[in-house]
Amino acid sequence: MRTQVVIVGSGPSGLLLGQLLHKAGIDSIILEQKSKSYVLGRIRAGVLEQGAVGLIEEAGAGARMRREGLIHDGTEIAFRGERHRIDFKALTGKTVMVYGQTEVTHDLMDVREACGAPTVYEALDVAIHDVETDSPQVTWTKDGKPQQISCDYVAACDGYHGVGRQTIPADKLKTFERVYPFGWLGLLVDKPPLSDELVYTNHERGFALCSMRSLTRSRYYIQCSLDEHVEDWSDDRFWEELTRRLDKEAARRLQTGPSIEKSIAPLRSFVAEPLRHGRLFLAGDAGHIVPPTGAKGLNLAASDVAYLSRALIDFYKSKSSAGLDSYSQRALARIWKAERFSWWMTQMLHNFPESSGFDRKMQAAELDYLFASPAAQTALAENYVGLPY
Ligand code: APR
Ligand code: PHB
Repeated sequence: MRTQVVIVGSGPSGLLLGQLLHKAGIDSIILEQKSKSYVLGRIRAGVLEQGAVGLIEEAGAGARMRREGLIHDGTEIAFRGERHRIDFKALTGKTVMVYGQTEVTHDLMDVREACGAPTVYEALDVAIHDVETDSPQVTWTKDGKPQQISCDYVAACDGYHGVGRQTIPADKLKTFERVYPFGWLGLLVDKPPLSDELVYTNHERGFALCSMRSLTRSRYYIQCSLDEHVEDWSDDRFWEELTRRLDKEAARRLQTGPSIEKSIAPLRSFVAEPLRHGRLFLAGDAGHIVPPTGAKGLNLAASDVAYLSRALIDFYKSKSSAGLDSYSQRALARIWKAERFSWWMTQMLHNFPESSGFDRKMQAAELDYLFASPAAQTALAENYVGLPY
């Protein structure tokens, strides 16, 4: 078997890359270790920058997103019981779209199936070989049988725990990491959202976020300690804790109900450099992780894929490897800015267990400055709606 590009992972990075390549007449195979229903069962964030929206449309998967996605002109940040609005549209001329990552994945899978491009689900023991040569090979096991394919390039879109990054020799890769001393406990519920826009809350009991998936489905998060277990959080306990962290008026409006999903996610910042080794490229969570506070995970995956797909298309159209040679550097320049923004939002909005009185005063001063300064609000807004690429 032979193809042009082997893509490992059928998350949003791999699927988006596969479709952009397909549109340009480049063949790919996607190898995914889990089943399709497992991939679609994962609940992830749901805020898309205009750049990501544009790429999903370019990939031919934008129809339902355009119909069902909610355009948000701003967001609210609550502190000391008061909500302050950041008006993205007035400050930057741009908006974001609220549309769940699960739906994006679904739509991309649908268009891939419709065009007949191959995806192998439950591809086990994926291993990437010979990326330092002109003819990389990828092997895997399907239904107990060994399989093999050769290709020109391998795109590791296989997330933080994937095999792609691990294929790069340790002495060729540098990693940078911060692990935060708390997690987010998330709950999904079929009730209308608290508000038209997202509400990020800094409260002395811990961060809270009121988000949504649609006009009838809401997503809520509360900061929790890392030793919490989701089984210890009944829905009632969750709603009670969330209510305590909201301002009085928001708490009155909150519509509670039985959870559809509840899970705890740790918060981490992580970057691997470089994002290329020979003919192997890392994209999305395979190369970097952001804490969810700025909603940048999926959006960064999209910008990586924009750079990588254009570079591969250039290579096949004009035999120029300039884009491939500069992929890592270009992608990392944007990644580090999104890392900075996500780290800053996390720093500003959470209750850090080890923080001193001085740290808490700094956090309050940062928020007071933000609420009072159109310049500071513009800086937040331009990062939230997404830096250009
Ligand atoms: N072999 C094959 N597939 C693998 C392997 C492996 N060894 N390891 C991981 N995978 C698959 C996972 O099962 C998953 O479906 O790779 C896929 C990676 O998908 P994501 O984790 O969704 O990563 P990515 O596509 O880069 O999307 C980034 O997802 O995690 C969020 O916040 C993140 O929003 C961001 C987005
Ligand atoms: C979500 O809706 O899941 C969400 C929204 C914004 C964030 C993080 C998560 O910053």
